[in-house]
Amino acid sequence: MTISFIGLGKLGLCSAACFASRGLKVIGVDNNEEHISKLQSGQCPIEETGLSELLEKSVDNMGFTTDYTKAIAESDVTLIIVPTPSKPDGAFSNAYLEAVLQELGPALKEKDGFHIIDIVSTVMPGSCDTVFRPLLEGLSGKTCGKDFGLVYNPEFIALGSVIRDFLNPDMVLIGASDEYSGDIVRDLYASMVESAPQYAVMNLINAEIAKLSLNCFVTMKISFANELAALCGATPGADVDTVTSALGADSRIGPKYLKGGLGFGGPCFPRDNRAMQHYAASKGFDLRLSPAVTQVNDDVVDRLFATITRLVTQPGPVTLLGLAYKPGTHIVEESPAVILAHRLAEAGYALRLHDPLAVKLPSQELAELGQLCETPYHAAEGARFVALMTQWPEYAVLDWPRLEQAAGPEPWLMDCWRIARAALFHRFSYLALGLGTKDSGGA
Ligand SMILES: NC(=O)c1ccc[n+]([C@@H]2O[C@H](COP(=O)([O-])OP(=O)(O)OC[C@H]3O[C@@H](n4cnc5c(N)ncnc54)[C@H](O)[C@@H]3O)[C@@H](O)[C@H]2O)c1
Repeated sequence: MTISFIGLGKLGLCSAACFASRGLKVIGVDNNEEHISKLQSGQCPIEETGLSELLEKSVDNMGFTTDYTKAIAESDVTLIIVPTPSKPDGAFSNAYLEAVLQELGPALKEKDGFHIIDIVSTVMPGSCDTVFRPLLEGLSGKTCGKDFGLVYNPEFIALGSVIRDFLNPDMVLIGASDEYSGDIVRDLYASMVESAPQYAVMNLINAEIAKLSLNCFVTMKISFANELAALCGATPGADVDTVTSALGADSRIGPKYLKGGLGFGGPCFPRDNRAMQHYAASKGFDLRLSPAVTQVNDDVVDRLFATITRLVTQPGPVTLLGLAYKPGTHIVEESPAVILAHRLAEAGYALRLHDPLAVKLPSQELAELGQLCETPYHAAEGARFVALMTQWPEYAVLDWPRLEQAAGPEPWLMDCWRIARAALFHRFSYLALGLGTKDSGGA
């Protein structure tokens, strides 16, 4: 079987390489010509763990083009993984997907035989039945479910571990216009994955709702743990790690995403919550949990800001160690660290910032926020307050005496993930989210 991919970005290129590495023939299409010529000349245009090695290994099974017609004519299934950016009202835009379908529709018309169009991009519930199906039927003159199949097959990968997650899913979600298309896509995944996932095959609307619900549920768990961390922080003797390790041991709950620390950020979780709220409102339904999850997430940054401005009354240098929304990525989109940095900068604090990846290719936004430093020790120089923000493994093995030596007079250390809890400090006054010490005051 040959499969084609439209959109070779962070998710699309990794997925294409995974299928090709298992022996399937893959045609990759992107409208970014520079991106395609890099791929054609054997370069890897995306930073993702293990991707360049996988591309090298799979090169014989992959071809790259900007020609959509070829993708339809020479393949059996076309997976579409283009952006679906959030609109100001929180809904996802289908504009990129519709542009791709406008290209694919005429090619579908010309094709003899059954072809499956598989939408992988995250979409608003209802998009497949009310937008994509009529659009494709109109352009091709064919009937969905009879002459071609429409599938919604979103992924649950995390940046930094896209390939590992893609090869080892717990569950493969497949919404399909017809039984045959659902079976073909299920078999496609079965030939590729290394784990033994559950295949959740259903109709299109259920799959669209399931995709959003899953991410909203995970963020609900994160916010629960973060609220618990705040409560433990306000309770002398309490320790959120001890409490959550008991909770996580219960099989009804499980330990993942129950750490208690900074809130969630990145390109998916915050926007999926907003999209769910928008979708519910469009159905005249007032969701209660999802807005509360977002509020609890915002509260974490509010409390950190209040703690810093309470303890460092003369705006002096504040150091943030870690800017990415999670370890293993340079992405700072909706990162709690960057949201906090904006608030501190607006309040007049001079910021010294470090991140193992994000400062290497800094955006204009980061460069304007504060001084970007090459090492954590450099970042801590003269600081009145140092906050360990992103849970990078590098920070767990910092030379603590060197860090506190670099800091300014009477410095504070805020440890959002309790990675330095065993260290002995001589100069730092130590605070940690989730540990109920006298000074934490529920920080
Ligand atoms: N990255 C993630 O962590 C993640 C996780 C789950 C779901 N998703 C979803 O996957 C989708 C894609 O995300 P991404 O992170 O891979 O995006 P991305 O921006 O990294 O990549 C998108 C790619 O699509 C290409 N593209 C845009 N318009 C095109 C067109 N008309 N024809 C051909 N190619 C086109 C772009 O050039 C780019 O290479 C989004 O809906 C996103 O919500 C992403």
